[in-house]
Amino acid sequence: MNRPADIPPVPLILCASDFHFGCNVWSPLRLFGKRLIGQANYHLRRKRKLNYTAASAFRMLLEDQRPEALLALGDFTNIAMPEEFRTARAFLDSLAETGTKIYALPGNHDVYTASVLRQRETDRWLGPYLPPDGVPSRARIPGVASVQFFPTVSPNLLSSRGAVPPEGWQALESLTAQTGGDSILIASHYPLLDRTAAYRQKWSHTLRQSEKVLDILRRCPHPLTFIAGHVHRFSLTRDPVKPDLIHITVPAAFYSDPETQGAIVALTPEKDGLFRVYLGKWTGNEWVWSTPNPDAD
Ligand SMILES: [Fe+2]
Repeated sequence: MNRPADIPPVPLILCASDFHFGCNVWSPLRLFGKRLIGQANYHLRRKRKLNYTAASAFRMLLEDQRPEALLALGDFTNIAMPEEFRTARAFLDSLAETGTKIYALPGNHDVYTASVLRQRETDRWLGPYLPPDGVPSRARIPGVASVQFFPTVSPNLLSSRGAVPPEGWQALESLTAQTGGDSILIASHYPLLDRTAAYRQKWSHTLRQSEKVLDILRRCPHPLTFIAGHVHRFSLTRDPVKPDLIHITVPAAFYSDPETQGAIVALTPEKDGLFRVYLGKWTGNEWVWSTPNPDAD
């Protein structure tokens, strides 16, 4: 159940995802194969759902709330075109002007093809906002969390599946060995659960070996929170095997419906090593907050 809530207290982390900035490029010299399909899909379907009038509301929120950090969990673009990255970069720059520390993780749409990866386009455009020590790496957000950035994206010929590289597995093992300290937040583009009460993923969109990741995390002695984007829907789920493992998915920032023009998640630390979760929705006039409960469904 989503209970109405006041503005989340400080200190807090804000998390937003799946911005999907598009472009109008149709040149056959620049669009072929998967990119042409992605562009057609964007203009025929996704574009109708997006409403960027909420962009200024995100900046306003950062100015008002002064979060310790903003985690942006990927899919800044639609088909990883320079025009799209330029818009995404301008948006991130405008948010960063508020003084908020931003950590951006690329999504599968930001490494849409193997050539985008080879040419290091995400580094080029999102560089100042990528975790400084790469992905995987860990960052301490004082008073709130130790964030483990977890790598799950890789280009695919046709599908949208995620994959964990060898260094990702090493990062998971070192997490298990960690002792004491801050609440642990694992930030990823792909979620681990293929279905929850809020969404069901097509096989073609899932993370390869997600069960193996789950096995490792379920053996971890610490309370853990795993936060991801990719599915465009909010969800908050207690792990069925490890009760102190919480799975969160962050809704697409700019997907609009009649009541909501923008969406964001806020996390504040709790004494048990987990987080209180707030779902924020921009109605066009104000941010309205609720505190969903992981045990509601
Ligand atoms: Fe995605």
